[in-house]
Amino acid sequence: MLTEVVATRYVTPLREGGSLPGIVEADDLGTYVVKFTGAGQGRKTLVAEVVCGRLARALGLRVPELAGVHIDPVIGRGEPDQEVQALLRSSGGLNLGMDYLPGALGFDPLAFETDAAEAGRVVWFDALVGNVDRSWRNPNLLVWHGALWLIDHGATMIWHHNWPSAGAAADKGYDASDHVLATFAPDLAAATAELAPRVTEDLLTEVVADVPDVWLADEPGFDGPDAVRRAYVEVLLARAAGVGDRITLGERSADKPSQAPEWVRVRLDNRKAGK
Ligand SMILES: Nc1ncnc2c1ncn2[C@@H]1O[C@H](COP(=O)(O)OP(=O)(O)OP(=O)(O)O)[C@@H](O)[C@H]1O
Ligand SMILES: [Mg+2]
Repeated sequence: MLTEVVATRYVTPLREGGSLPGIVEADDLGTYVVKFTGAGQGRKTLVAEVVCGRLARALGLRVPELAGVHIDPVIGRGEPDQEVQALLRSSGGLNLGMDYLPGALGFDPLAFETDAAEAGRVVWFDALVGNVDRSWRNPNLLVWHGALWLIDHGATMIWHHNWPSAGAAADKGYDASDHVLATFAPDLAAATAELAPRVTEDLLTEVVADVPDVWLADEPGFDGPDAVRRAYVEVLLARAAGVGDRITLGERSADKPSQAPEWVRVRLDNRKAGK
């Protein structure tokens, strides 16, 4: 079960997020980044956040802690922004919160570094869940207290948008050429050996148990939330077995990331030269 809290104050929208996530305070005195059920992307985004967030944490990757956040739309009444008001009005009930990491910076591959082992684990995990949203264009990685934190798993597991053909997803490969950590020589062999055996049926069953029933109810073709949970377990279990051998690390696509400012390049060069 996800810990559940009640929102007490809507603080501010996070404008850089496509789904207009917001910062919210709750009755446990915590501050959360909330993704709303009323956002255009729909409730499957929230299911993906829970499944991937819980799974990544169980595999030892850093993801901000998740919580269910109850919203009473009344908290948006004083909000001057009409778009935010409409979002809160349509998001009454349970929404998804992630612990807010104050002062976290967006990961920039030109300014921060990671090692081959960690890069390998992140790329392997993204391959498992089919995450196309961790490219150098949109890294969805934060740096907080000097360590990497994974966020934004809403666009993973594309197969859950078309369950009848989800069986085929088990054998699909993963193109990591544009992955933001591709340039850190990800050690995929080590990551596969370490992580694949840990993605067991028991672990996956525990992970999907945390998805609230209300986000799984009335899924066409399924006989209730537990049957949908089972479908997530089956695809991920099948993918875990072989995805490590189906990750491609090729040439990056044509655009180049923006150049680092001069002072960052000087520091990187100095670091490389051991100065
Ligand atoms: N837990 C967190 N702590 C601090 N900042 C966060 C956290 N989660 C998200 N953010 C900030 O909010 C931004 C938007 O979050 P996120 O990427 O999850 O939203 P989104 O709507 O799915 O975005 P998009 O689809 O546009 O990438 C992030 O780029 C980051 O700057
Ligand atoms: Mg994002």
